[in-house]
Amino acid sequence: MSMHATWMSFRSLTQDQSVKNQKLKPGTLKRIAKFAIPYKVSLTFFLITVVIDAFLIIATPLLLRKLIDDGVIPKNAELVTKLAFAVGVIAVMDALFSMAGRWFSSRIGEGLIYDLRKQIFEHVQKQSIAFFTRTQTGALISRLNSDVIGAQQAFTSTLSGVISNLLSLILVAITMFTLSWQITLVSLVLLPVFLLPTKWVGRKLQGYTRQSFDINAQMSANMTERFNVSGALLVSLYGDPKKEKDDFAVKARKVADIGISIAMLNRIFFIALTSIAAVATAVAYGIGGHLAINSELTVGTLLAITALLARLYGPLTALSNVRVDVMSALVSFERVFEVLDLQPMVIDAKAAKDLVSLKPDLKFEDVSFFYPKAEEISLASLEIAAKPEMVSSGQVLKKISFTAAPGTLTGIVGPSGAGKSTISSLIPRLYDVSSGVISINGVDIRDYTIKSLRHCIGVVTQDSHMFHDTILVNLRYAKSGATLAEIEAACRSARIWDFITSLPNGLDTVVGERGHRLSGGEKQRLAIARLLLKQPSIVILDEATAHLDSENEAMVQAALKEALIGRTSIVIAHRLSTIAAADQILVLDKGEIVERGTHDQLVEKRGLYFDLFERQNLQGELI
Ligand SMILES: Nc1ncnc2c1ncn2[C@@H]1O[C@H](COP(=O)(O)OP(=O)(O)O)[C@@H](O)[C@H]1O
Ligand SMILES: [Mg+2]
Repeated sequence: MSMHATWMSFRSLTQDQSVKNQKLKPGTLKRIAKFAIPYKVSLTFFLITVVIDAFLIIATPLLLRKLIDDGVIPKNAELVTKLAFAVGVIAVMDALFSMAGRWFSSRIGEGLIYDLRKQIFEHVQKQSIAFFTRTQTGALISRLNSDVIGAQQAFTSTLSGVISNLLSLILVAITMFTLSWQITLVSLVLLPVFLLPTKWVGRKLQGYTRQSFDINAQMSANMTERFNVSGALLVSLYGDPKKEKDDFAVKARKVADIGISIAMLNRIFFIALTSIAAVATAVAYGIGGHLAINSELTVGTLLAITALLARLYGPLTALSNVRVDVMSALVSFERVFEVLDLQPMVIDAKAAKDLVSLKPDLKFEDVSFFYPKAEEISLASLEIAAKPEMVSSGQVLKKISFTAAPGTLTGIVGPSGAGKSTISSLIPRLYDVSSGVISINGVDIRDYTIKSLRHCIGVVTQDSHMFHDTILVNLRYAKSGATLAEIEAACRSARIWDFITSLPNGLDTVVGERGHRLSGGEKQRLAIARLLLKQPSIVILDEATAHLDSENEAMVQAALKEALIGRTSIVIAHRLSTIAAADQILVLDKGEIVERGTHDQLVEKRGLYFDLFERQNLQGELI
């Protein structure tokens, strides 16, 4: 039996049998077929190589039979040479065809992986922020990796496995029967002796394989949680190195133990396979030998039939598990489709127009908002396990109405949890309002294209994110074609240019995750430079200076002042001093605007704003 066939049948054994009874959604097969269309030429050639391969497998024993019976025994030297040569040529052809088959199958397989990955990535990018707040990144990435690979196996291994195994089984069985039905029957009687232990091994292996996935995942989770800055810090400050070591050792030991069990079962499978095949061969030689003595069988036939026998069991085992193979691949496809079918919550309207406005007039009219429920935004299978949160968030915003005139500054203040950040996320449509309307220049923002809307809006939040890349790349992220002069101007306005030039690598300094560590103030000023490059006509600052000490804050404030000139600005402020000069201040409490006016008007009113103001002044004096 060829190594490939053995491996194929072995792989089938380790697959999870439970998929066998799963029901596929209607239409899945049709959809899969669509993915195959671009590869129909490769696929045809691939299947041709598979078929030729199956025929070549039986050709060799038959030629050898002729070589013995018509060449060796009647002492026909010329025929022996010719046939030996033919067997050699077939061996080389077999190698070439299997190479060609591999080439076609990897073209199809890798092409399909590429197609699926590209589609999933593009689709996931379209999802609203809500999706990412619910989804476990690891689970999502595994869809992009393992399920995509599982799906491509439907096309390559499984398809070729089924076709080539079925074909060789039929060809081998027919040939064997025509050569000697007696030997073939006896060999088939031995088959259950072989299939029974493999079924047993298979069942055991599935259990172990599943367990090994689980404990491997536990071990990796243990590492990923600790091998990052925050985790390592927690372990250093609070952890007990010995306990950490022991915990890890327990997990690693389990992985090792299960590895041994799997290796042993693996061996048992191969031993069962080879010894039964050997016994069958012995039986075939025994019976065949007697038949040959009685001249009921030629020597050549005896040799051919024993050679074919070895090619009978492999395909048989593989086919006995074929349902599982096919279903595993199809289920992977379905899991990929599940992600592709997830509708983004925020999408462009059919007749959406582009927003082009240098003087946007932003208006909220009776805007109410509930955060979407889990099942509306995500796939249960991608969420963190055991978090069945079905209740709605409650009404976060209640009938919010205000107008931010072009070029004016609107300040929003209020206690934590009042809904300030929620207001800021509704403007660039990270979420859509539950009721009411947000409009710009009199047009509902849902009637603008998302791209153009977001292009007009610049946001700086408390902790701005930088990609792990150079400062230059991070800045150009906001405007890909920005010239160095533009970048310098933006950085100067953001009060960050001197700092950048003081770095040994200047704009080429790598920042973000594992790069140069920027201080909070530096990062915020860099984020402001990024915002300035974008030249948005609406600016939203959500507590952009909340994490900064007073010295840094002063710098960032100066940078911001410049950023806001002439733009319609919404500034959510932690420190009231930042918005004292605002054209209007909205005081938000529990999702409602409870007071509004200028700083002076609100102080005079002696309401919530005044309380907050007093408290901060008092703190200021205490510091
Ligand atoms: N993604 C979310 N899903 C559900 N509820 C949320 C989400 N984000 C915020 N909330 C809730 O909405 C309310 C307002 O939050 P937020 O707008 O962040 O307040 P603020 O910025 O004023 O501190 C809070 O009660 C918060 O718990
Ligand atoms: Mg907030």
